[in-house]
Amino acid sequence: LLKMYLPFLLLCLSLGVVKKCEHTPTHWGDLPGSFCGEKRQSPIDIVTSQVQTDPNLLNFTFTNFFSQHVKSLTNNGHTAEINGGGLNGTYSLDHFHFHWGDTEQLPGSEHSINGYRYPMEMHIVTVKKGLTLDQALASSDGVAVLGFFIDVCEQGRSTNVAVKSTISVADLIGDVDLTKFYRYMGSRTTPSCAEAVVWTVFHEPIKINRNLVSLASCFKTHFPTKTRLTNIYRPTQDLNQHEVVASPATPLAKSELEKSLTWSIILW
Ligand SMILES: *[C@@H]1O[C@H](CO)[C@@H](O)[C@H](O)[C@H]1NC(C)=O
Ligand SMILES: *[C@@H]1O[C@H](CO)[C@@H](O)[C@H](O)[C@H]1NC(C)=O
Repeated sequence: LLKMYLPFLLLCLSLGVVKKCEHTPTHWGDLPGSFCGEKRQSPIDIVTSQVQTDPNLLNFTFTNFFSQHVKSLTNNGHTAEINGGGLNGTYSLDHFHFHWGDTEQLPGSEHSINGYRYPMEMHIVTVKKGLTLDQALASSDGVAVLGFFIDVCEQGRSTNVAVKSTISVADLIGDVDLTKFYRYMGSRTTPSCAEAVVWTVFHEPIKINRNLVSLASCFKTHFPTKTRLTNIYRPTQDLNQHEVVASPATPLAKSELEKSLTWSIILW
């Protein structure tokens, strides 16, 4: 049960990592050296009826990844690697961060699915092996981000949660089926919005129980009251003719055309 609350503990521990954005997203395109106004921007709304299954999106292989303790993620992240999952090459763990909305009036995930926005989103950022971060940001697939939606469940009982120092990536991800994911080529979601990111957005959310951790107190402890916590996520961007594909295991909603064809066959 404790496992369910670890991400929030982690969130509390890692809040210092999240950068405060100085400008509102609508003006990011005006910043010098910014790609924020370009055509391969993230996040996006994933419209499942327009997503095609891609048989090349095979299972990911995670090396030293799940056992990674959160404390070592930032210090010693380069020992954990991923490949497979349709990625061209091996990517090394760099860091992770969270996006969320208002602490009381959720939601705040960056990506959305069929217009649905989850309460939070976790990004595990990895960099193509052999590239520095600067080189990676200048390459069209230099960075691979694993995006996880975080859902907050209402039921459950309150308990005291001790801060655990050995939270692993496996603790974070829990039971999420890693064979079900969406893929598209996009950008970072903060300036300079470099168009260097191979996005993987997992279909299943990480589930967290709201009752056990007081989000608000967590935020209040870590931010001055004047800090605006609302909308620490970028609005979804236009897909601009780019495509989103899905791994074979991902269930896709039928398009309206397919549905109506099905109905006409049944009715006929
Ligand atoms: C991918 O992983 C799933 C679940 O672990 C497994 O059932 C499936 O056979 C794997 N597919 C391939 C191609 O290895
Ligand atoms: C795969 O990555 C290598 C090295 O970064 C690059 O030279 C090659 O063009 C990439 N292949 C594809 C299909 O993107």
